[in-house]
Amino acid sequence: MEVLGDAEVLAERAADLIGDALREKPNLSVLVATGHTPMATYAELALRGLDASRLTAVQLDEYLGVGEDDPRSLWGWMRRSFVEPLGVKQVVRLGDAPDPDEACRRYESEVAALSGIDLAVLGLGPNGHLGFNEPLCGPGARTRVVTLTPASLASNAAYWGDLPVPSRALTAGMDVILSARRIILLVSGSHKRDILARALREPPTPEVPASWLQGANTTVLADRAAWGGAQGRAFP
Ligand code: PGA
Repeated sequence: MEVLGDAEVLAERAADLIGDALREKPNLSVLVATGHTPMATYAELALRGLDASRLTAVQLDEYLGVGEDDPRSLWGWMRRSFVEPLGVKQVVRLGDAPDPDEACRRYESEVAALSGIDLAVLGLGPNGHLGFNEPLCGPGARTRVVTLTPASLASNAAYWGDLPVPSRALTAGMDVILSARRIILLVSGSHKRDILARALREPPTPEVPASWLQGANTTVLADRAAWGGAQGRAFP
């Protein structure tokens, strides 16, 4: 657990950690979150002139029934913010098969072929979700189609202006996330304070999917606004 002064310092620190991991293992596999919080980290990373040509970027989640040219496509967001600026050449997509169940199966086998995820870069949903693993969710949840909770529909509406938020999505399973060899959770802003405190303090519970990170190799990077004095228990 590291508490950073503000969102800018948090992004620099996160970029340091990701950059170090990439220098150590040029063929790193990285689970890549979209959402507002990681954007400054990816922008900072792109400034650093790293060689990401052997990195594999793995998609975390996607809305169901949204084509890649749709402005709401999370793949499109990931491509613009991470894949293109860093010069990433290998990607594992989620949701690029016409049948969603087939898309999940294909995704799981592609992740397995990578020998799993080296590094997961995640944000924290205001309702405690990771990817679109919405509450209630156990640690063994597989990659699957989910229905978004009202809390996620409301928070994601901020991304898309007047466009409605699709109500169903595909998400990497908690099993994929929790088996990552390292996880970095980025948390910024006072609106995340209560849910971060619950994720850190409560015994792991399906009501707060992020609380399962307590049993994984997780580094939480929080800015002061999000931290607010929450006492971490099981996080390194
Ligand atoms: P945010 O989203 O980074 O935009 O707050 C996090 C999330 O909903 O997973």
